[in-house]
Amino acid sequence: MAELARVPLIAGNWKMNLDHLQSIAFVQKLAWSLKDARHDFAAVEVAVFPPFTDLRSVQTLVAADKLPIGYGAQDVSEHASGAFTGEIAASFLAQLDCRYVIIGHSERRTLHGETDEVVAAKSVAASAAGLVPLICVGETAEDLETHGASAVPVSQLAIALEGLQKNADFVVAYEPVWAIGSGQAATPEQAQQVAAALRAVIAEKLGDEAAARTRILYGGSVKAENIAGFMRQPDVDGALVGGASLDVDGFSSIARYQKHVGV
Ligand code: 13P
Repeated sequence: MAELARVPLIAGNWKMNLDHLQSIAFVQKLAWSLKDARHDFAAVEVAVFPPFTDLRSVQTLVAADKLPIGYGAQDVSEHASGAFTGEIAASFLAQLDCRYVIIGHSERRTLHGETDEVVAAKSVAASAAGLVPLICVGETAEDLETHGASAVPVSQLAIALEGLQKNADFVVAYEPVWAIGSGQAATPEQAQQVAAALRAVIAEKLGDEAAARTRILYGGSVKAENIAGFMRQPDVDGALVGGASLDVDGFSSIARYQKHVGV
């Protein structure tokens, strides 16, 4: 498959951590830390995913200080508006200048019963509102044992892509459920194997051009000490970082993996 230049993305999923005041301090410090280290944002994109209640604050800070940091939400409604208590529409996120939205994180799938069909509907809603869906897929330890590593993520992605246009801008995150928050990351080779299979699904569903330009991230116990190995893999284009994204220095160091990638 033709290699297109895919700008790597280092994304921090804060989950339910950091309130709006803390988010301001965090994003400010992160921007300083990366600027201090002369981080090249055009070479490696950096984005954070704070809770909904932080987004307006992050938007205001990023706009006022013209910070080169992207941001997005951790979930979105599949509906445009109406009687959906507690839900947030994609258009609301677009109004806050969110570029991305995480969809189908394993915690939403397991704790909130999100099916592949819901993930697909949310991806369509996000894309229609001009957001870039960051679609998460991944197998449980049991799936891994029964079906091997790629079967479940591949089938999850095939359904998630069903409604997307050929030219839709989206990102895929491969997050093995057993690697999330466990301290036991996949090996770079495992991540590469599944990322290659996911790229093949994109090619099959949306064509070679979409497959060549779409970024596939690895997530699950990523930290400064192991990011380099993942980034050396040809089909891994970044990371979705949970716990380690809550520490400014650690996250900044992950974003600057090129300094310690050792190639
Ligand atoms: P950890 O990096 O804490 O394992 O979490 C990964 C994750 O779920 C990111 O979305």
